[in-house]
Amino acid sequence: MRLSIALSALSALLAVPAYGFQAFSGNACDGAAGAVVPCDGSCHAFDNRHSFRADPSGNAHCVAFFVGPSCTGQRFNFTGQAGQCTNVNTGTNIRSFRCFSGGGC
Ligand SMILES: *[C@@H]1O[C@H](CO)[C@@H](O)[C@H](O)[C@H]1NC(C)=O
Repeated sequence: MRLSIALSALSALLAVPAYGFQAFSGNACDGAAGAVVPCDGSCHAFDNRHSFRADPSGNAHCVAFFVGPSCTGQRFNFTGQAGQCTNVNTGTNIRSFRCFSGGGC
């Protein structure tokens, strides 16, 4: 009994949340798709990606993009992202990002 409670708590923790962030190599959420990552503020690579969609459920998110690898260098905040496809066109190459739940970064 105790073990099964522990196991179900563990699998709930490991379950991939329904919400998330996905980046694409094309400009309109087409082309090669990256892995779906949770919007928990963790840093992920954005190399060779040009568009993204945050949380198809429609909740607001903020995505911070960085010019440098590992979320370093100049930062661009994309606020109020809620399921739409956004073309990342900052005029400079983007190498990494963090996605946050909520409207601000
Ligand atoms: C992005 O948001 C962070 C956190 O609110 C803020 O510190 C930073 O100045 C913002 N950057 C830009 C370029 O707006």
